[in-house]
Amino acid sequence: MDVVKFITLLQLIIFNNFYRIYRIIIFAKKMFDFNASLSIWLTGLSGSGKSTLANNLKLKFNSNNIPSVVLDGDIVRSGINKDLGFTIEDRLENIRRVSEINKLLIQQNIFVINSFISPTNKIRNVVYEIIGRDKVFMVYVYASIETCRKRDAKGLYKLVEENKIEFFTGISQEFEEPDDYDYFANTEKFSVNEIVDDIFNKIITKIK
Ligand code: ADX
Repeated sequence: MDVVKFITLLQLIIFNNFYRIYRIIIFAKKMFDFNASLSIWLTGLSGSGKSTLANNLKLKFNSNNIPSVVLDGDIVRSGINKDLGFTIEDRLENIRRVSEINKLLIQQNIFVINSFISPTNKIRNVVYEIIGRDKVFMVYVYASIETCRKRDAKGLYKLVEENKIEFFTGISQEFEEPDDYDYFANTEKFSVNEIVDDIFNKIITKIK
C-alpha cells in the first residue's frame, strides 16, 4: 500500500469513529432529555376537577410507560401534613413541604402530578421558587364556584352552608385567580379525556 492510500484509509477510519462517537452523544442526549421530568401542578377550587384530572393523567403516564406519582391535598393532609389546617399560613406550609417533595422526585426523573387548591399567587410562587419555574407545568383547573357547589362530590359545600367548615376556599376565604400558568383547563366546557390528552401532548412536546 502506498503512502497516499494509507493516509486516505487512516483519515476514513478516524472520521468514521468521530462520526460514531458523535451519533452516540446525540442519542444519549435525546435519552436524557426524554427522561427529564416535570411537576404538573393543578390549582383550582375544591370541586373544580383537580383530583379527577390528576388520576386520569396518571393513567396516561402509566400507559406510556413514564414513571409518575400523584400527590393530592386530601391524601397528603391525612398523613405527612396531618398537623396543618386551612389558614393561609398552614396552606403555605402545606405547599412548601409538598414542593420540597416534588423537588426530590423530579431530580429522580419521576413526573409529579399535584392536586392542591394552592389558592393564592404568593402560595404558587413558593412552588416556583422551590421547584424552579421551568420545571413546573401549572394548570389552572377552572369551574365556577356555582358549578363546584352544584357538583359537591364530597358534600363539603353543604357543610359550609351549615357553618360547619371555616376558611373554605372561594366562600369564606379567597381564591385568587392565577396570574402565571401554563394551561387553562375549563372543566365546565371540556371532558376529562380531552383535557388529559391535551395536557399530556403539551408536556411531551415541552420535554422533547
Ligand atoms: S391547600 O389550600 O393547602 O392547597 P389542599 O389542596 O391541600 O389545600 O386541601 C384541600 C382539600 O381539603 C379539599 O379538597 C377538601 O377536601 C379539604 N378541605 C377541608 N377543609 C377545607 C377548607 N376549609 N377549604 C378548602 N378545602 C378544605
